[in-house]
Amino acid sequence: MTSSAPQPGQTITPVRIAGTGSYLPERIMTNQELEKSVDTSDEWIVSRTGIRARRIAADDENTSDLASKAGLKALEQAGIDGADVDLIIVATITPDTLTPATACYVQQKIGALGAVAFDVSAACSGFLYALEIARHSVGAGAFKNALIIGAEKLSAFVDWTDRNTCVLFGDGAGAAVIVPSENGGGRVLSSQLGTDGAQAELLNIPGGGSACPITVENAPQKLATLAMQGREVFKHAVNAMKKASIDGITAAGLTAKDIKLLIPHQANLRIIDAIVERLEVNRDDVYINLDKYGNTSAAAVAIALDEAHREGRVERGDKILLVAFGAGLTWASAVIEW
Ligand code: ACO
Repeated sequence: MTSSAPQPGQTITPVRIAGTGSYLPERIMTNQELEKSVDTSDEWIVSRTGIRARRIAADDENTSDLASKAGLKALEQAGIDGADVDLIIVATITPDTLTPATACYVQQKIGALGAVAFDVSAACSGFLYALEIARHSVGAGAFKNALIIGAEKLSAFVDWTDRNTCVLFGDGAGAAVIVPSENGGGRVLSSQLGTDGAQAELLNIPGGGSACPITVENAPQKLATLAMQGREVFKHAVNAMKKASIDGITAAGLTAKDIKLLIPHQANLRIIDAIVERLEVNRDDVYINLDKYGNTSAAAVAIALDEAHREGRVERGDKILLVAFGAGLTWASAVIEW
């Protein structure tokens, strides 16, 4: 299916989130289990990151399976049938295949055969990048609705012998349905995106792309796994998420005191604490689930949004701030009136 592009001068109408969903694989891998395979300890992982466990997808469970399950839950909540979905955007750095896009498999699995479907690669900021694309696409009237999904099977791209990275990541998916706002309904108030490609080497999967295909010779180097300069990334994460948060709140015409719930990227509790301190947000108004799931990259904010919503932490009219940071480097924020 194709869609008409917005005409020059056409106004962008506000959009809202009509439904959320998430899916976590059944298998729980605790820190204690990792202690048996790498030189680490529950004490180190908890004190340095706040992570206690993560979910691991089954061998035959692909990113598109996690994404489809989360997407169907969001559609059910929104009261929209799979067949009526107009646009599917999957944010992921762990696609089922390099091509086609994971969104194409999702389209097939949820029966959205009339939709346009593609992926966004912006690491942990991907779900908020997808939100911004959907906001403009639906707001301009080019699509009547959008299913945006953050989904990752990071366990397939982790070197399980590298303690610097394997303790940090997990698998999962979260989704949201974007529709035009009705009068008096919720709306996305502001959205901020940023990228610094000059820092691309700080956090990447160096092998498996066209720059460095995996060969019989280089296979033992495990180049198709996540590599990260943790300390450097940490500093950038705090500064970028703080700035994206302040810019987003200001663009929405609000102050930090107006924010009912802060949903930050779930990478490291110390990063979240540093942002909370700088923003002067009440710690009780911050949603945290990284202890259970670790860093699920593009899925993290989406899963947290769905859990917060289903737990009744967001009510109609509440202003919530979503903020993320990841490889690229990328960062993003969104302020939403629920
Ligand atoms: N168990 C025990 N010791 C460990 C482990 C482990 N799992 N991992 C590292 N160490 C050791 C290191 O070897 C180092 O030892 P040394 O001092 O003898 O060299 C020591 O612990 C301290 O290492 P640091 O890297 O300085 O630890 P730090 O406090 O910075 O924490 C961490 C590391 C958790 C990775 C942190 O830097 C971090 O969270 N960084 C940001 C991650 C992030 O936000 N990523 C963005 C999104 S991810 C994405 O986009 C896909």
